[in-house]
Amino acid sequence: MAFYIPEEKISEIQNVADIIDIVSESVLLKKAGKNHIGLCPFHSEKTPSFTVNPEKQIFHCFGCGAGGNVISFVMKHDGVSFPEAVQTLAKRFGVELPMRNMNPAQKIEMSEKEQILDVNRHAMQYFQHMLFQEFSGKPGLQYLTERGISRNTLEKFHIGYVPDGWTNLVEYLSRKRIPRNLLIKTGLVVENKQKSGFYDRFRNRIMFPIFNPGNQVIGFGGRVLDNSLPKYLNSPETLVYSKSSSLYGLHIAKPECRKTGTAYIVEGYMDLLALWQHGIQNAVATLGTSLTSEHVRILKGHCEKVVLVYDSDEAGLKAAARSIEIFNKEYLNALILVLPNGHDPDSYLFKNGEAAFKAIAQEALGAMEFLMESAIRKNGMSLEGKVRTVTSMKDYLANTSDHVSRSLYIKKLAERLNIDDSAIMEKIRETIQKQKTENNRAGIIHSINQQSTRMSEAGLSNESDRMEKKIIAMMVQYPEILPEICKQDILSCFENKVLSKIGVLILEQHEKGDRSVSSLIVRVNNPEQEKFIASLAIENNKWNHAGCLKLIKQFVLSKNKRNHDLLMRIKTAEAQNDDKLLIALMEQLRDQKKIQKKRESAGGKTL
Ligand code: CTP
Ligand code: MN
Repeated sequence: MAFYIPEEKISEIQNVADIIDIVSESVLLKKAGKNHIGLCPFHSEKTPSFTVNPEKQIFHCFGCGAGGNVISFVMKHDGVSFPEAVQTLAKRFGVELPMRNMNPAQKIEMSEKEQILDVNRHAMQYFQHMLFQEFSGKPGLQYLTERGISRNTLEKFHIGYVPDGWTNLVEYLSRKRIPRNLLIKTGLVVENKQKSGFYDRFRNRIMFPIFNPGNQVIGFGGRVLDNSLPKYLNSPETLVYSKSSSLYGLHIAKPECRKTGTAYIVEGYMDLLALWQHGIQNAVATLGTSLTSEHVRILKGHCEKVVLVYDSDEAGLKAAARSIEIFNKEYLNALILVLPNGHDPDSYLFKNGEAAFKAIAQEALGAMEFLMESAIRKNGMSLEGKVRTVTSMKDYLANTSDHVSRSLYIKKLAERLNIDDSAIMEKIRETIQKQKTENNRAGIIHSINQQSTRMSEAGLSNESDRMEKKIIAMMVQYPEILPEICKQDILSCFENKVLSKIGVLILEQHEKGDRSVSSLIVRVNNPEQEKFIASLAIENNKWNHAGCLKLIKQFVLSKNKRNHDLLMRIKTAEAQNDDKLLIALMEQLRDQKKIQKKRESAGGKTL
């Protein structure tokens, strides 16, 4: 295998990087027998089908088929390449990796992200330093003090300030000998239109570093000190920063989210700081973008419930309604807390304090109630208004898959509007019926498609592969049978090339005395085949020697039958003078004979 990271280093990493530890950082796992299960971070689901097996050090999702070892998990979760995942784990667990074997392109790709993160950290330190400079930092510190932010909060969130001027940061970083093109890649520095010089993107702003959950600085937000526009400026998307998957404050909120099972979601930097400073430390902010499925999946790895805190203005309510659709799609339990008119969390907390905030948080509405109340407020209680409200709620109600909750919501809406619930039922029945048939159809087609894509991606589309697949499963689950497989040279009869390759790898590894499935996964070095192996290994089939021998015998017999069929077909082709077919069949026969010879000389039974 063309690894430029030595194999023993990869084994070392697999030995020290426990898959439960790594997965637990982003998935809430519960112990279930030999396995740990949780909600899959790679697809939306309501009940856990994501399974991790500590003994074998593998994961497999029974819902979407994702699977592999600890390295595959990091690759998929962080969206990084194999060497990057290995490097991340090596760093975390103090395994030293020799870089010299990498080719230049790999070195560049791998180090570019690292370098951007490194420059970001330098920039953060510069901004923090400037905030506390007696003269040049004064406007910034004064602004933050006026807004009530404590020294402790400033330090916890590494908040800084960049003074007015076009090249403060450019000059600082240039003195550190950081190349210009790297500065551009961080988004902190911009090249002017004439392409004759560089200037700072952020000038005279309070600087909020944005961290990923691994405590790396991935970007920045900057706020002006007055009413000028834009009020906030954010880092552009870079190799390390993607708005749609970043949550401000998560690196700090993580433990508290897990402890309480809940996360507050707010819109802004200052809102989050206000909550934290008032002791509510399980909050994250979405930073001016609407909430995405990615955000929600990340959150699901740390809490079971969220409270969305939005302003009560029109935009806030619209955003909340949009978010509800995402929560529903991703099956995350959400409450909506609408603050009194004109308040955002920051202004509310500084005016009314923590106790008042906690009290109104108790009254947060469930998503459906929130939608009802918003619709009633908008449409009023006239007859037409009520009709409009029911119409606007129709789809939400029909989409509620839990029947008990649905009838409760219908009852509630009927009571609230003072109408008969059968009238509402009537209105949504048609929608439900339509959705049911569509879902059923889509569901069946989807699962068929998914299964066949998975099979064909792994090279297992053929019906006749089933038995070969079963043999591989047996080899993975019951290694005691491997000497017999070897002795009878069973793999040489395999028609499916992918399966026989996997089989050969299993035997090779066994010979080396290595029985770990996780290492096998590294050796196949193909994502689809990794998934396939993980899915076999996670099954808990009980094999015994006699059963295994029976399967092998069955397999050999089926091969014999195929041979016999081949001879019959050759006879027919001869009788019909079909030369073309005859040649093809003879070739097949020749191949079979070759295999047979090989098997015989290896001491296997005659086919
Ligand atoms: N935002 C942004 N760009 C803007 C305005 C807002 O990215 N031009 C994002 C910021 O992350 C901001 C959030 O949207 O924190 C909410 O915006 P807004 O409610 O306007 O600001 P506040 O958070 O209330 O900020 P402040 O209290 O400092 O005025
Ligand atoms: Mn505000």
